[in-house]
Order: sequence, then structure tokens, then C-alpha cells
Amino acid sequence: MPTESPRPVTAWPTPALSFGGDYSPEQWPHETVLEDLALMREIGVNLVTLGVFSWVKHEPRDGQFDFSWLDGMLDLLHEAGIRVDLATPTASVPMWLHRLHPEMLPQDEFGHPLAPGGRNGFCPSSPVYRDFSLRIVEALATHVAGHPAVVMWHVGNELGGGNARCHCPVSNDHFRRWVQQRYGSVDALNEAWGMSFWGNSYSSFEEITTPSSRTAHNPGQLLDYERFSSDALLDQYLAEKAVLRRHTPDLPVTTNFMVGLGPDVVDYARWAPHMDIVANDHYTYGPDPLRHQELSFSGDRMRGISAGGPWMLMEHAAGAASWHAINQAKKPGELLRHALAHVARGSDSVMYFQWRASKSGTEQFHSAMLPHAGRTSRIFGDITALGGHLASLAEVAGSTVTGAQVALLHDNEAGWALKSGLKPTNQPVYADTIRAIHGSLFERAVTVDVLPAWSDLAGYKVVIVPGLFLVSAENARSVADFAEAGGTVVVTWFSGIVDERNTVITGGYPGAFRDLLGAWSEEFYPLTPEESVTLDNGWRGIRSSELVHTDGAEVIAGYSSGDVAGYPAVTRRALAGTGSAWYLSTDLDPASLGEFLDRVLGEAGVTPAARVSPGVEAVRRSSSTGSYLFLLNHAATDGWADATGVDLLTGTRHEARVPVPAGGVVVLREE
Ligand code: GAL
Repeated sequence: MPTESPRPVTAWPTPALSFGGDYSPEQWPHETVLEDLALMREIGVNLVTLGVFSWVKHEPRDGQFDFSWLDGMLDLLHEAGIRVDLATPTASVPMWLHRLHPEMLPQDEFGHPLAPGGRNGFCPSSPVYRDFSLRIVEALATHVAGHPAVVMWHVGNELGGGNARCHCPVSNDHFRRWVQQRYGSVDALNEAWGMSFWGNSYSSFEEITTPSSRTAHNPGQLLDYERFSSDALLDQYLAEKAVLRRHTPDLPVTTNFMVGLGPDVVDYARWAPHMDIVANDHYTYGPDPLRHQELSFSGDRMRGISAGGPWMLMEHAAGAASWHAINQAKKPGELLRHALAHVARGSDSVMYFQWRASKSGTEQFHSAMLPHAGRTSRIFGDITALGGHLASLAEVAGSTVTGAQVALLHDNEAGWALKSGLKPTNQPVYADTIRAIHGSLFERAVTVDVLPAWSDLAGYKVVIVPGLFLVSAENARSVADFAEAGGTVVVTWFSGIVDERNTVITGGYPGAFRDLLGAWSEEFYPLTPEESVTLDNGWRGIRSSELVHTDGAEVIAGYSSGDVAGYPAVTRRALAGTGSAWYLSTDLDPASLGEFLDRVLGEAGVTPAARVSPGVEAVRRSSSTGSYLFLLNHAATDGWADATGVDLLTGTRHEARVPVPAGGVVVLREE
């Protein structure tokens, strides 16, 4: 893992909330650019991300730099009062460079290089790419240093998007060095990966390859390859950042993450300390009827990985994407709800991909703030209204989400470990359980922090460990300490099964939590998507069941059907004082899960952000000067919330019960 001392987040790049998006003026004639700037000013855009794919514009031929276009754009934007999040253009390798150095293309697991073109067409370990990319970053940073329009740096674009796993000879060499550094000796490596299985022990580091063929691979090796790939990309980020820091020491540096349910292509929670501002790109999946809940999960996770501080929504979509089979437009009201849902969960920005819809190129039908139809379109109308709303919400900037009494633990490594090697069920989805639990809490308006598994848990009432397949002894200890100090812990099936080497913790599942839970299981009984089991209190279990025994815990519900009928399904161990440790050995269907959580939350005294009608999302942000309750009605019927204050979006004062119209949003400054 590359090291660099984390730097505190520097000042936010815009006054109040940032509003804007990716801007690609290189695709348009000058008169269109002038129209863009006038429209941006009109609707209150204050930040654009410029130059993401502009390497060939800045360096049209090997070593020949030309920043005249950029200079013109920076000056125009500055005159218009619009600040610039300037990208290092390293995501788009120029075609001349591909021709000069075809060896730097990433290779797939069969050793086939990617075709040139597209983006992120480089092997993350390639020294050739590193040299050329740092050369353009150096030239760019030298050139723009001190320009008043540039307020932050955006390194590359979605590092790992398309090139996160490379199997070329250079990556193989790099992987060998990485493994050697991690384990020191071949014996230690053989032990960690359990290479005696099938007699696969190594006698030299030289024998190690990236796991590239299609045979079943060693779970430890596969997991380490994921870690290695993440580190290789982080190295690239850090190398670019070091150049930028030398030339512009005061500008914050970030790169755009792709934080969703996880596991992600790289380990964002472990990358976050290297970001001056933690930024995310988030795209909903149109056909998902609960996409607003998935969006809220990503927001809660972003807050968790940015240590609670405001984070930046760097990209999202004003309407449809273009990479799904059918790309559904946003429904009326959804543009505003999605934008403000990110703000509600801690973003201090609303940024889009992209400002103006492109006419040509891969994403010619991706939605934009300014669609092909132009300014008279519904989207542009909604975007204009949003600009006004964000101005009304200026005082919210800098506040943080407060009131989370529940933490959900998440770890990218757990998701990687789960898909590394053969498992009791080989269609495992890491986030199924965590999403179901988060969704149920969302419906109860309970604020949840989705935290890296190593976080400080003090101050929460309930800590949930959902499907955290891999857990270190230290992180398991911190969960147990939390329960011993009086907290409520809920551990679900397939948590704490393996250690950091992806090695099973033996002696009864879930080994890492067995003592804490006072319950253990001896065998998994996975269920097909069509199957379910009943519990003797009427609940229904799905996805998996287990043959559970208790060893100090009370049985709350037992299996009453299926292969493990008669055995415990849900257990609870009371600890000294108020502490308790629950074990859920199956996933519960939504109704049963709701009843389960009501009991757990009730016992722990967890309260919602506000009492709301069904379908209304409620989250509170606070600062030393104010408290802001975001209420978003995702239902098709009018709703309400019990709260008091002034709606910043309309100026209306509400006493006691706030109406939240169907599909509408209220942001209350509470008194
Ligand atoms: C993001 C990417 C943007 C654009 C957008 C819409 O992942 O960073 O450049 O491609 O998706 O598809």
C-alpha cells in the first residue's frame, strides 16, 4: 500500500454549495461556448470540471504542448465568475501515444490487450504510461499555477474504470514485487495462501503470476490480486498528486470515486485519507424501483468514508444514462429529489455529467443539464429551478449529517473475499443483506452511518455487521468491545467467516463472532431464489439457512421448515448491563426484517430523524448555527412529517405537522 500522510480537507472550492458539472467545450464552436457561459451564469452554476479528456488538446504531438485553448477557457470562465475543478487529462491516452507505445495497453486475463481508444487505456503499473502521464501533469500544473479560476484538481477520471485488472507482463512483475513486499518469504506466502492445497506451493516468488487463467484459483491469491490492483491505481493517483502539490500547494486534490453498494473496483475507504475532498460519481439504475434507497446508501457510505465531513457529489445524471439496455428518463420531480437526497446525506455539491449533451461520441445520448433540445426542455427547467433551490440552501453548506444512532459496517475487502474462490453459494452478492437492512432502516427514517469496518464505534446505540464475510481479529474485537460496553450488536449470516488471508476461522461459524454471539453454526444450507423457510414466530427466511447451536444465547426464533427445522434461527445473547449480541442466521423477507428491526431498535432506544408518513425520507444536517431537516417524499401520495420550522425552498413556516407533497421536497430550518 503506498503511504503518504493524510492531509486535512482544505477549504471548500466554492462559497456555499457547489453546482455544475463536467464541461467539454472542446466539443463545441466558440459561439456555443459563449451561450453556455451565459446560461451557466443565469442559473447559478459556480463550478465546472474542465479538461477531463483533453490530453491530446494540451499535447497534440509527443512533447509539444499547447495550452492556448485552455488559457482561453479559463479566462472566459473566470470572467463569468465560474470556478474550475481542473482535471489532469490522464484518463484519455492520446492516439499518438498508443501508436508509440502499444505495450502500455492493459491486458485481460487471456493476455489480450485492449484496443486503443475509449478511455483509461493504460496498464496501471506501466512505467511508460507513468512517465508520459506525469510529464503532461507537470506541464499542465506549471502552466496553470496561480490562475485564479482554478480552485481544485481532479486527477484522471474514475481510476480503474475499465482498466482495474491488468494481466500484462509488467503487471505480473509488479504483482510479484507487491506479494514479496507483503509476505517477505515464500514460506510465509505459502502459509498465507494455503498453497499446500492441491500441492501448489511455490518455491520462489518468480513462479507467481496474476490469477489469469480460467481454472479455480486460490482465494488468498485472488483477494491479494484485488488489493494489489487497487494499490497500483492508488500509486498513479499519488504520483500525479505529488506533482500537483509541488506546483499548487494550496489547491485541494481529489479524484472521482464510484461508490455504490460495493465491492468497488478499488478500495475507496482505504483511498479516502489521500483525498483532500472525497468525491463521488453516482448513477441510479432506472428500472430499480428502490433506486432512491440505493442512492441514500451510497450517500451514507460516502459520509462514512469521508469521516463524517461534507463530501462532493462530482457527477450524477440529470436524466437517463445510456449504458443500460433500456435507459429510462427520470420521472417528474426525480431530478430535484435525487440532487437534494445527496445533499441531505452530506454532499456539499450537486454536480452532473455533463453540462451540455454531446452530439457525437460514445455518450451522445447520455442526459445532460442542457439536453439536445436546449433551454426550453423539461430537464433544463428543472435544472434552473434546482439552481435557485441550491442558492436558498446556501446556509446548509458546511453542516454535517447528525443523529445517526445506528452504524452498518462495510468493507470492500469483505466483498472481494466473498467473490474470491468457491463458496457455499457461488452467486454471492456482497451487498444483498446490507442493502436490505439499510432499506428497512431508510423506511423507518432512521439515520445510519455506513462505516468502514475499522471505525470508532463509540456513541452509536446499535452496530450492525451485515454479511461482513472477512473480518480482522482487531475489527471483530472492536465490535465485541462495543457490545461489552453496553451497545447492541446485530451480526448476520456470512459475517466473520474468514480472516484477512481469506482463510476460514474454524471451530464453528461465524468464527470471528462466535464468543460474542454465544451461538455458532456447523453447516450452511443455502436456499435457491425460489426457496424460503419459515421460522416458528411467523418470520420467513430467504437466501440462506444454517444449522445453529447456542452456547449462552437465548433463542428468539427457530427454523420450523426446511432442512434445519428445529434448530435456532435468530438468537440473542445478553451481556452485562445493556449490551446484547444478536445473530441472524438467515436473511429475512422485508416484512419479517421490519419486525426484527423494530424490536432491536426499540430495545436499544433508537429514534428516527423525524416521525414521517410512509415514503418520506428524513435526514438532518446541523452546524453550530442551524439545524436542517431534509424531507423527501418518494411516494405518489401526499405525506407529512412531525416537525417545526421554515422551509428554505419556499419560505413557508410550518408548525407541528409539515405537509410533504407527493414527490416533493421540503428543507426545514428547525427552530
Ligand atoms: C461516469 C464518467 C463520465 C461519464 C458518465 C456517464 O462514469 O466519469 O465521464 O461517462 O459516467 O456515463
